[in-house]
Parts: sequence; C-alpha cells; structure tokens
Amino acid sequence: MFFGQKIHPLNFDIPEALTLASDVVELSGPSVRLRIDCADILAGCWRLRFENACSADQQQYSDAVLPEWRTGRPVAPMQEADAVRFATAAGRIDLSAAQLRLELAGLTLETVAAGIGACGDNLLLNFALCGVDGCYGFGERTRRLNKLGDSADCLTVDVVAVFRHTYARDDYDPTYVAIPFAILKAGEHFLGLFFDNPGRAVLDAGKSQPGEFWYQSFGGVTDLYALAGPTLPEVVRRYAALTGRAPLPPLWALGYHQCRWSYRSAAEFRHLAAQFAAADVPVSALWYDIDYMDRFRLFTWNRQAFPDPAALNRELQTAGIRAVTIVDPGVKREPGYAVYDSGREQQAFCQTASGREYVGKVWPGDTVFPDFTLESARAWWAERLALFLRDGAVDGVWLDMNDPATGYSRTEEMRFGHGAIPHDRYHNQYAHFMAIASRAACDQLDPDGRPFLLTRSAGAGTQRYSAVWTGDNASNWKHLRMALPCSLNLGLSGVAFNGPDVGGFMDDASAELLVRWHQAGCLFPFFRNHAIRHSRPQEPWQFGPDPLAAIRGAIRTRYRLLPYLYQCFFAHWREGDPIIRPLLYHYSGPEYANLDDQYLVGDAVLVAPILHGEGHGPEIMHCGVKMQERSILLPPGGWFDMNRGEWLEGGRALHYAAALDELPLFIRDGAILPYYAGALRNSFMDLRNVELHIFCRERAARLDYFLDDQESRRYQRGAYGVARMAAEIDGEQLQVEITESSDYPPGTVCFTPVIYDHPAVRELALTVNSRRERRWLQAGQREWLCRALAVQV
Ligand code: GLC
Repeated sequence: MFFGQKIHPLNFDIPEALTLASDVVELSGPSVRLRIDCADILAGCWRLRFENACSADQQQYSDAVLPEWRTGRPVAPMQEADAVRFATAAGRIDLSAAQLRLELAGLTLETVAAGIGACGDNLLLNFALCGVDGCYGFGERTRRLNKLGDSADCLTVDVVAVFRHTYARDDYDPTYVAIPFAILKAGEHFLGLFFDNPGRAVLDAGKSQPGEFWYQSFGGVTDLYALAGPTLPEVVRRYAALTGRAPLPPLWALGYHQCRWSYRSAAEFRHLAAQFAAADVPVSALWYDIDYMDRFRLFTWNRQAFPDPAALNRELQTAGIRAVTIVDPGVKREPGYAVYDSGREQQAFCQTASGREYVGKVWPGDTVFPDFTLESARAWWAERLALFLRDGAVDGVWLDMNDPATGYSRTEEMRFGHGAIPHDRYHNQYAHFMAIASRAACDQLDPDGRPFLLTRSAGAGTQRYSAVWTGDNASNWKHLRMALPCSLNLGLSGVAFNGPDVGGFMDDASAELLVRWHQAGCLFPFFRNHAIRHSRPQEPWQFGPDPLAAIRGAIRTRYRLLPYLYQCFFAHWREGDPIIRPLLYHYSGPEYANLDDQYLVGDAVLVAPILHGEGHGPEIMHCGVKMQERSILLPPGGWFDMNRGEWLEGGRALHYAAALDELPLFIRDGAILPYYAGALRNSFMDLRNVELHIFCRERAARLDYFLDDQESRRYQRGAYGVARMAAEIDGEQLQVEITESSDYPPGTVCFTPVIYDHPAVRELALTVNSRRERRWLQAGQREWLCRALAVQV
C-alpha cells in the first residue's frame, strides 16, 4: 500500500449484533467478529481492547504502556437491551453493534453511523467530530500544530530514502516516528485517545471526511486508551503516566552539540575544539558520524584516522566536551568480522520466514539486523555496545537508521522471533527495542549514571529510553518554520526531549538562516547543529564575525538558562509536562488553537523567533539596521521584553522587529528564572551557585526549584529536595523567601536574587529557611544574555 492511502469506510463490514460472554462483548456480522473488553487503568484513564477475530494472532505486541498499567481492573459490562454499558471510574462507555459512545471528564464522543467496522483484519473506528475544534499530538509530523483537517500515516520510514523530494516540502508523510495518539479539543475541554497498536495505522482528523475522525489499524490488537482532561496538561500528563516519562539527562546533554557528516580524523576533532575555544562559543559535545568506523563496520574505528579514540575523547573531556558516536543497527554481513560472527552464533539477527538471515543493503553493503525483540539479542547487543563505549571512552549514543532503514531490501521480509513473527508487529517498534538494548549497555557501564541516547525512529513510550531528533530536514526557511509545530506535537505526545537538526541537514545553510535557526532552537530541549556531507560547513563561525556574534548570543542564552531548562526536565520527570509547549498548553482562547510560530519554555519563557529571511517577509530599517518583523501574540498579563528591557502589556498581538542578533524573548510577570552566571566553559557548569532572576511587576513570583546531585539516578530513589521560592515587591522592598525541604541537604545551592527593571526597589529582604537577612541593592548593572538589564543584589 502506498503512503497516505487509507481504506474507504465503505469497504469495512459493519457488525449487526451484540452478544455478551462473561466480561467480553462480541460485535458480529456475516464477515466481522470483534471482541471488546474494558478495564480501568489509572485515574482518568480506561482502556477498550479490540480484538479482530480475523487477525492471525491476538497478542498485544506493543511495548508502549508501562508494565504496571498493562492489566488494569476489568470493568464488567452491564447489558441493557441490545447494548452494554461500562461504568468506569472516569466515565461511561455505551456500546451497541451500531455505535460506541464515550463520556469522559465532561466530553462526549461518539462514532458515526456504521462507525465501527472490520475489513479483513483491519479495524475502523470512525468518530463524529461534533464540537471538536482542534486536534494535537500525532507524534512527529510535518505540517501544522493543529491536526484538524490533517491526517497521519503512522509508519516509521527512512524518510529521505523513500521521499527524495522532502527537502523542498513541508507537508510530507510519513516520518521516522509513529505515535498514534490524538488529543481532541472541544472548546476548553481536551480528551486524549491513544490507539495502542504497534502496526501501521492511519489517523485522519477530518481530512478525508470533514467532521469525522478515522482510526484505521492494519491488523493486530488495538487498545484504545481514553485519557481525561479537562485541560490539555491533564491529558498530556496522563498519557505520560501511561507510557512513561523521560528520566533526567546528564547536564552536558542539555548543552550545545556540534555534529556533521562526518568529521573524519582525530586532528579534525582537536581542531574543532580549538575553533570553539577561539570563537568563544561553548560546546558540550562533538559527534562522530559514520566515517569514524572502519568501512562502516559497527563497533570499530578507522585506526588510520583515529589511532587512539579513547585518548582523544579523554582529551576532549578534560576540555568539557563529550563524545557521541553514531551507532546504526545494520551489522556488515562478513564472516570473520567478530561482531557478525558472534551475533550469528547467538542467532541474534532477524530472519526471513524460512529462517535465513534477513539481509539489507546499508552503508557497509550487505547488512544483517539484530532482532532487538529477543531478550538474548538485546543482551548480546548490550554487551558489545558497552565494550565499544568503554574502550573508546564514548559518552553518548546516537541511534540512527533504525526505522529500520534496509536500503533497497523490502523490509517486510525481515521477521522477528527467529522468523516466526511477521514484520509489521515490530516494524514501528524496531527503534524502541534498539533503544532498550542500547540503554542497557550504558547501565552496564554505570548502573547509577545518567546515559544520553538519541534516536531517529521511535514509537510510543520510547521516551523512557532515549531522546529523539526529528531526522533529515533541510536548510531552508520552510523546514525551520516546520520545526516548531513538529517538536511541539512530539512533546505533547510524550517525547519531551527532542529537537531538529539546527541549521538544517540537507542543502546549504545561509548565514541568516543559520543564525535564525540557532535562535529558534536554542531553547529547544535538544540543541544540535548537524549537516549532511558535501554541504556548506555550518559551524557557528563559518559565516564571519556578525553571524558568529549572533549565534554565540543564542548559544550563550542556552547556557545561561540551563538551570531553568534542567528544572523543566525535572518537572517533566515528575509530572510529564513537555519542556517546550504551545501557548494553548497554558492559555485558553481560540487565538491559541493554531498558534505554532511561537512557543513557551516551561510556563515562564515565551520565544517568538524570526522565521523568515531578508526579502521574504516584513522588514524595516531602524537607525540603519535592517530588522525582520513579525507578529507576536502575548497572552494577558505583563511580559518583560528581554531585547528592549521593558515591560509590555499582554493580551494583544504586537508587531515586533528584530535585528539579526535579536531573538524575541519574553518573560512572564511572576516568574523566577534560575540562571547560570558563572564562567562558560563548555559542559563544565557549577550549579552550586545559581542566580534567581526575578520578574515581578504586578504579580508575586514563585518557583519550586528541585535540588539533586545532577549526575546520578539517586533522584529516582527519592534523593532530591525542593526549594520553594516566593518573591514580592512591597514598596521599596523586594521580599524573597526560600524554604528548602529537609529531603536534600539544605544550603547545597547558594541562590542570589537579581531583580529586573524596578527603579523603586532599594532593599532586599531575603529569608532563607526562616533566617532573615537584609541587603541593599547595588546600583550596578547586571548582564543578562549579553545585555545590561537588571540589578544584582
Ligand atoms: C542519516 C541520518 C543523518 C546522518 C546520516 C549519515 O541520514 O539521519 O543524521 O548524518 O545518516 O550517518
């Protein structure tokens, strides 16, 4: 079947009768038999399981949902004439042969007439979109944030290999990630529908048929989880509770990453580190793309180019720069090559139906693929990868080509479980299981450490193991624009730790595009510059002093706000909120439903990057400086403009002009931003001294600051504390109160308040853990992101 094709609803057979056998409902007709049962899963979430009797087997192959939520508490159906009702803790489900009706947290959703059906082993659920005025999530997608009127083909694909034209477009489908999760919005009510089936699926939110939402699965069991709102954060948090939240990353992974296909020698890596130092740009990691290997053979090094990788990486580490290597799943099929031989011996590779090793064609030529669904193969892989990481002193793992990309070999021939399990059961989960096996390698090396993994392909739940980047984009304005909704929707779909190739991967970046991309992406959860081979180099200094200065400013913004980002990651791990959020996450009103060219970081920082280049959008000349203009929607309340150093009144759209070195950035009244004011030395950051940048105009400011050791997993065993902070202005006095919980040694971090633009304030009353101090504010200025705006205490 071609991409984007669906099954016409008229091709589905519709059940005519409903029968009840113990707790299972059966809907049947001449050529359809669907078995449905219901379970309460967690607060505000229930599951309907759909088994299609035509499916070859009735096993749920998905690993999306956390093991603890896979069973649930069965809900007994109550029969009423020719229908049944499931009364769950969170709402009600009415089911007849003709209709499914869900009622959850104040929202009702029902299928259209003939809205439940089967076509062979495919399933159709066709809901009426009555009152629905927005749709979000869908995992990693192109196009816009609001998916109403759009559709998604949930099948993971090596996009550029299949669709070579993608660099010129921003509307292609599918992508590298498949997450069949939709969030419906009806007025101010939100509801989540997660269709847990790891096979290919179509989500169509009114594209083919306005007013109807189609879910079509292509075989297998579908577990439909309904997740209650009523607010968007409640839906997203429930989904994250169900499928897992990302563990805390190492601090270095939150810094700036530099990559290119490929840096080719040890000398080039050393030179890069020196260039970063000379350009005065911090960098936390340098990345090895495929050319570090010996003829693309996994877990090897090209020893001519990299005679002693461990020594090189240790040298980089002493400069605060970590090393990340690409690791593809494809193992060169070459008898005598130790990795191939040992994998073959362990029967670790995918097979065809007749039990042959499945062979694809990737970088090294004929290639076999580990069957990560087998525990034994995962153990084999983990051991091999751990050795490689340890011997080369490698810090992070970049999992690529795991969609899986098999070159011109048909993927369908690749089967799992020693050839017994058809490809489609695990296709969308190939990367997911690869991430599990790879994380296990890191666990072997450091059971209490924080590994960093990045994957191209992913499914629901992969966020538990790895961050995700959005694959091969291109160096053009369309792709920059598209990066915002794509990352925002990924975040709403549980994958909080994500980001695009900054600067664009394919084609050549221009100076202006590179600058704007760094600005737009500098507060994305993952921040990496990456480019394809033969493209124009796009390291920060490649376009001369002015672009470099602007890029440096963006990268420094990242490092200065790294304590804030870390707090966002902590909050994500605790609650499931995304790091970057569309404005509709916190503000209600129709004006936010489609707003996806600006975003929030946490709930306090609003970023509205310039997304067009000179000559391609509104621009003005101001005092001889060319500025690009855009419209920005500021939600109600006060917002501090970090470029102009002044408070703006929100609740309106404004026209805003930004010079090349300006990123429109606004801080909400009532925010306290933890800020790193120390020396910028690559990944070395001493967060024992943190400034608290206080933005108080009319509102009191608040922050819960989580304290932990920032390097181990002890936080997962409860070894963290919280410092509750409140700040208020009373006449001439700024009152700041910090109360640390006793769960973590109080006083571990020294907090220094900094106040913005408050000429009336002369004195600080600081109370830390009930000890009160008074300080006079210094009249001096304080630099914030390279500009003197604030007053230090
Ligand atoms: C794939 C990756 C890209 C990488 C290249 C070479 O296209 O998506 O990031 O640079 O392979 O390894």
